[in-house]
Amino acid sequence: MFAREIKNKVYYVGVQDWGRRLFDSLIPLPDGTSYNSYLVKGSEKTAIIDTVDPDFAEEYLQNLEGLDKLDYIITLHSEQDHSGSIPILLNRFPQAQVVCSPKAVDLLKEHLGLDPAIIRAVEDGEIISLGDKSLRFIHTPWVHWPETMVAYMPETRILFSCDFLGSHSAGTDLYDNGDPLVMEAAKRYYAEIMMPFKSQIRGNLKKVRELNIELIANSHGPIWNHPEDIISAYEDWVSDRVDNKVVIPYISMHGSTRKMVDYLTKELVSHGVKVELFDLAVTDIGKLAMALVDAATIVIGSPTVHVGPHPIVAYATLLANAIKPKARYAAVIGSYGWANKLVDGILGLMPGLKPEVLGAVICKGEAKEPTLKELSDLATLIAEKHKAL
Ligand code: FEO
Repeated sequence: MFAREIKNKVYYVGVQDWGRRLFDSLIPLPDGTSYNSYLVKGSEKTAIIDTVDPDFAEEYLQNLEGLDKLDYIITLHSEQDHSGSIPILLNRFPQAQVVCSPKAVDLLKEHLGLDPAIIRAVEDGEIISLGDKSLRFIHTPWVHWPETMVAYMPETRILFSCDFLGSHSAGTDLYDNGDPLVMEAAKRYYAEIMMPFKSQIRGNLKKVRELNIELIANSHGPIWNHPEDIISAYEDWVSDRVDNKVVIPYISMHGSTRKMVDYLTKELVSHGVKVELFDLAVTDIGKLAMALVDAATIVIGSPTVHVGPHPIVAYATLLANAIKPKARYAAVIGSYGWANKLVDGILGLMPGLKPEVLGAVICKGEAKEPTLKELSDLATLIAEKHKAL
């Protein structure tokens, strides 16, 4: 059995997916990911907490070789990267009971074909005893699906959090060890996966705050042995606080929009505003998502293709709409050849965001006066708005 003991007969039995580069065929994973699974041996009962992506089932079963008894398969989240190996595990341990939240019962039935008769749904606060250890289940919806929950083991002070408080990276280190690269991966993960649910996460963080935690054993990335770091980072990310920062995702085909972006950037910087530029033709969309976690303003720059926004700008705008950053202000800048519906085209793609639109600066061909003056005025307005925050 390739099991790494974390603490007092709690073992890591997960797998590393070093080569994965996209999650949900959408989210860039530059450093791969892991599917963390935990084996808990109590004095009376044995449990596994979350399984692994079924593509890794063979390696997973090798990790569990020699295990002769399993009472509970606890699934904190029904997405297949954690639940997908439950049927394989059940083949080997047919007497095991699957434990999940009430909302997960139907998901496990529909996604994995599990028989509800072998499933035990646990209520918020319910405790399952393993003998000298116990697991208290705390419902934490929307991290990442509506059925998600976490499990706290008071005897070891371990919080099993599944997707919640995770980070996408593959590696051989069991723990974060205060590595800033782990925190960067966690911020990217938050931006790409958790940010749309920030209001629900606020409530879930309060539940986590009440626990006396030594380790956060999540199901992606290293275990947090500095739990305060990630909890306080999340509290900041989901708060209303924004940075004095403008994020400008843009495309330029012949240089006109790029010139506007550069001009606006210099004007903003002269007002003391930080700016982050993302040329969408080459950018890592995950970096853009991270920058949006705490930016006060987003300015979208696009040339006109036919009469609407460039399709790559449209894609990035749709993505921003999906991940729901907390930007308070937005603006559109860009250029056109003969006709344009740029502004309506872009703003119409983000109905889920509610920023105050500070204006649009659109010019025919290359930017010159009065366009440059309009850009200067936009920079002044943004800086004033930021100062008032
Ligand atoms: Fe890691 Fe929502 O699955």
